[in-house]
Amino acid sequence: MNDRIILAIESSCDETSAAVIQNDTVLSNIISSQTIHEQYGGVIPELASRAHLQAISLIIEKAMNEAQKEFADLTSIAVTTEPGLAGALLVGSSFAKGLGLKLGIPVIPVHHIEGHMYSGMLEHPECTFPFIALIVSGGHTSIFLVKEFGQEIVLGSTKDDAAGEAFDKIGKMLGLGYPAGPRIDALAKEGNPKAYQFPRALIHESHYDFSFSGLKTSVRYFLQREFPDGVHDESILRDICASVQEAIIEVLIHKLLRASKEYRIKNIIVAGGVSANSRLRSALQSASEKRPITIFLPKLSYCMDNAAMIGFLGSLKLKHLGEEAFQSLQFTVNSRAIRTTRISS
Ligand code: KG4
Ligand code: ZN
Repeated sequence: MNDRIILAIESSCDETSAAVIQNDTVLSNIISSQTIHEQYGGVIPELASRAHLQAISLIIEKAMNEAQKEFADLTSIAVTTEPGLAGALLVGSSFAKGLGLKLGIPVIPVHHIEGHMYSGMLEHPECTFPFIALIVSGGHTSIFLVKEFGQEIVLGSTKDDAAGEAFDKIGKMLGLGYPAGPRIDALAKEGNPKAYQFPRALIHESHYDFSFSGLKTSVRYFLQREFPDGVHDESILRDICASVQEAIIEVLIHKLLRASKEYRIKNIIVAGGVSANSRLRSALQSASEKRPITIFLPKLSYCMDNAAMIGFLGSLKLKHLGEEAFQSLQFTVNSRAIRTTRISS
């Protein structure tokens, strides 16, 4: 069989990314994070679309150069089409369709959350089906049971805020800027996770849904009560960060391990932006040492939004569904959240 050489494009939120994948190997993965949103404390959709438009050609050129490939070498293009910001998704998908049409090659629409999910298999061929996946990002927090390729059952999802959203919103209250997840992670390293007790919502419920908005409210009241003028002591700030982080992580890990036990599945993937969290990674590591389970975590550059994971899933889709499934450009973008059905073209 001929090599699959795929250009992948990701533009669903505030990262413009392009990657080149040859079969299952990543040749390049260029990520440009938009910094314009920092001053607003959250992503402004219109600014995101404009920044994608400005960056996309250069990012694709860089990805092609680093991979040492010409456009004529490409056999297909993979692009994120859902979910995400509609305008931002349109920039990537329009570019992909135009280039696909010009080169006469198939364009593979890819679901962003499924991209995160299968990123756990990237560079981990030993991760086989079935697996349980915890996807934790700024927009999503869900546990999936994946029996085989494309057969994904959602066991539970957040009822309100995503875990990354909780990190970001609580970080904003603490004056840590946007996105606050990495800042809280860094500060928490020298904090005491037991210093303050914050709620672990739904932890003892038998289902796999999450809720993080109560935690956010609880931290808001706590700060108003204890630190009405703001937290000025660095060591207190570290303790608050460590305690908030622990509350989020404890619920995530508790439910994840319960799902693995209930469904008797040993392979576990944890992916999405929050999977970069150092405490989450070390807690998962120690949980796996005490149990007959294997946890697969993407490397850090595949945790944040990136095109490599989109190209990798594009490659898997080609392998399982064949090129014939991707001859039509009649797909559109979909900003809506989560999909619970099987992967199809
Ligand atoms: O997957 P992602 O890049 O974008 C979405 O699809 O949402 O995830 C971004 C989220 C943000 O909420 C960010 O604060 C969080 O991931 N995040 C972290 C860390 N790195 C990124 N949260 C906690 N600890 C981190 N180290
Ligand atoms: Zn994401």
